[in-house]
Amino acid sequence: MKRIKEISQVKFFAWLLFSAISVSTSWAADAQNGKKLYESNNCGSCHAFNKKIIGPALAGIHDRHSEEWLIQWIRNNKKLRETGDAEALKLYAEYQSSPMNVYENLSADDVKDIVAYIKLEANIKEEGVITNKEEPQEESQSNTYLTFLVIVFFILVLVLTRVRSRSRRIAPKYENLN
Ligand code: HEC
Repeated sequence: MKRIKEISQVKFFAWLLFSAISVSTSWAADAQNGKKLYESNNCGSCHAFNKKIIGPALAGIHDRHSEEWLIQWIRNNKKLRETGDAEALKLYAEYQSSPMNVYENLSADDVKDIVAYIKLEANIKEEGVITNKEEPQEESQSNTYLTFLVIVFFILVLVLTRVRSRSRRIAPKYENLN
């Protein structure tokens, strides 16, 4: 009985660790993948984070627009304008000089990653803390998180193996009692 309990405990902690790691790496991947997409699609040729160039400054887009709207706009702003979307038409009227490219090659998840990257990068630049940092800050955060998890896991393994060896030592005594 006890052994079964121990095994399921180990399984539970392994599962917990595994899911925590996959959640944290997927967080980190978001902004990193977004950075790659932002660069490979040349968004930066028309946009900056905190100043207007050909297109608007991208800081705060997640506050100005819903996620659904951003997906539609970034994937195909022309199509969105053609639906008569007021937000899109207003923006277009403001910046009529050069319409934004269509990016139907990007999936909805790609756009979410780009937005995550913009959010992160615009914050860093605004605070002026790490202005010329190459990698998104999120990566180092998730690294400390991972290190913490690994430490917790080793402590758990230690505790569990101690419990196990103690129960082995105790076991023969119980047998004698029977
Ligand atoms: C050729 C220049 C150009 C490129 C390249 C470009 N954009 Fe734009 N973008 C614009 C312009 C101009 C606007 C303003 C609306 C308009 O005139 O169509 C805009 C608007 C936007 C908006 C709305 C901003 C707001 O303040 O509401 C977002 C979000 C956006 N672009 C994201 C992107 C992303 C992400 C990429 C890369 C995948 C990209 N843009 C590439 C020119 C560009």
